[in-house]
Amino acid sequence: MSATGVWVALVTGVNKGIGRAVARRLGELGMCVYLGARDEARGRAAERELRADGLDIRCVRLDVTDEDFVTLAAKRVGAEWGHLDVLVNNAGTGGPVGAPSETPLAEVRRTYETNVFGVITVTNAMIPLLRRSTAARIVNVSSVLGSLTHAARRHDPSGVFPAGVFPAVLDYNTSKAALNALTVTYANELREEGILVNAVSPGFVATDINGHRGDLTPEQGARIPVLLATLGADGPTASFVGEDGTPTGQELSW
Ligand SMILES: NC(=O)c1ccc[n+]([C@@H]2O[C@H](COP(=O)([O-])OP(=O)(O)OC[C@H]3O[C@@H](n4cnc5c(N)ncnc54)[C@H](OP(=O)(O)O)[C@@H]3O)[C@@H](O)[C@H]2O)c1
Repeated sequence: MSATGVWVALVTGVNKGIGRAVARRLGELGMCVYLGARDEARGRAAERELRADGLDIRCVRLDVTDEDFVTLAAKRVGAEWGHLDVLVNNAGTGGPVGAPSETPLAEVRRTYETNVFGVITVTNAMIPLLRRSTAARIVNVSSVLGSLTHAARRHDPSGVFPAGVFPAVLDYNTSKAALNALTVTYANELREEGILVNAVSPGFVATDINGHRGDLTPEQGARIPVLLATLGADGPTASFVGEDGTPTGQELSW
């Protein structure tokens, strides 16, 4: 928030899926929401759809792997508002499921570019703007598949996968484990400044990333990310919260 009284948010990867649902909800809460989309035409289509409902939605071309686009996005938010209150690092990719020992290195590198290095690129570019907010929040959209504790126990606390089964997706799972480590590392840098940084496992959501096999809608999957984006000053930082249907979600092990 700033002197204008308007909350400003940036969500990455919003042309579809959980990201679009998060952007819609933050817009419905009265925020000005920048939609980061790498495909401008699809980003504009999402912008039109959400604006038609009266929301202050602004499409910004953003491939998180391209520093030039990220810098331009930060300059635009800075020029239009001078600050940023909420950053949701939602853009993600990965898969398919396969034996780790047979996963092509190129696939791992591609996933890390978006899920890990992309998050660092966007976060570092936005931190100067977040520091100008009175109550900034960063939400990293991770996955329970990134939990080392649950992987080691082969136990999915959400119950989507049966006991003893924990899908091995080398690129995706390890990139989300790295994203969890980034969450804690940034949280520790920023906690004294009142900037809360948390990770979320949104549940098993029916989107393109899993061939629409999930049992939650994108709107349901947006619930915990929005909760973490709108935490009060007494909210947690460096926490990993999963969707379990309870009001505040379930604290997950890293
Ligand atoms: N669905 C689930 O069950 C589930 C569970 C746990 C975690 N998640 C996480 O939730 C997040 C959203 O996924 P989703 O389920 O909504 O899948 P999705 O519908 O496939 O959406 C992924 C979004 O990320 C964007 N994206 C990918 N790479 C990008 C890049 N380099 N730059 C900018 N945008 C990029 C995609 O854009 P394009 O359309 O241009 O590819 C798309 O908008 C991901 O981080 C995913 O890992 C999902």
